[in-house]
Amino acid sequence: MEIIIQPDSGTASALAAKIVARIIKDNPDAVIGFPTGATPLEFYRNLVRMHREEGLDFSRTTTFNLDEFVGLPPDHSGSYHVYMDKHLFGQVNVGRDRIHIPDGLAADIPASCRRYEEEIRTAGGIDVQILGIGVDGHIGFNEPTSSLGSRTRIKTLTRQTRRENAAEFGGEDNVPYHVLTMGIGTILDSRLILLLAFGAKKAPIVAQTVEGPVTALIPASALQHHPRTILILDEEAAGELAKADYYRYVYEHKPDWQKY
Ligand code: PGA
Repeated sequence: MEIIIQPDSGTASALAAKIVARIIKDNPDAVIGFPTGATPLEFYRNLVRMHREEGLDFSRTTTFNLDEFVGLPPDHSGSYHVYMDKHLFGQVNVGRDRIHIPDGLAADIPASCRRYEEEIRTAGGIDVQILGIGVDGHIGFNEPTSSLGSRTRIKTLTRQTRRENAAEFGGEDNVPYHVLTMGIGTILDSRLILLLAFGAKKAPIVAQTVEGPVTALIPASALQHHPRTILILDEEAAGELAKADYYRYVYEHKPDWQKY
């Protein structure tokens, strides 16, 4: 894993957007995996700005979102269809037919999840997957004890995750119990993974993810097996990393050809 520690979430988000923009410029047909949540909002603002001011072109990109709640109408304010439309898809020129988000309203959920995996394969696999991380170590909605080889499927949210999503649903009781999420195996198939984590609240789980054992109790720890994962952190989220000084030193001494 490569650990990049930035002074704050603004510089971290700008760096993540720069890396993704470079991938799109080098390969306009890039396949990109997108997350939701609070963490990537500034990253999305950067991509929208680059589209408007620098002509960053999404017209040939294909996108796959990590997850979606089960049973929400498509226009529900808590749905990730609405989130993505608001923060990215409605503001850049990505083709509507190239956007993929798990179908939380599917009548046949297992078939719909199999189709999602097939669509990723047909698109040629995900070139870059952006991730947030839950305080319990979930990536996508792969909660603790998720199989590290899992594929897209239905999952049950923990009480804690439902509580954390209460605001968008007008109270915890309204948060769905079930979600569809790419599996950990699906995520690990991505060619490059960028995980963003900001704020002191994420510091303990970031340390366990990077420096603890690989365990299904910390789903993000599976990323230790991935050949190209970059964690982009702010100072606060990096606050409990035992080897933070080493990660800073590595970043400062990157050969020019490896710099972002
Ligand atoms: P957050 O969520 O960005 O809102 O902290 C991260 C996640 O649950 O993956």
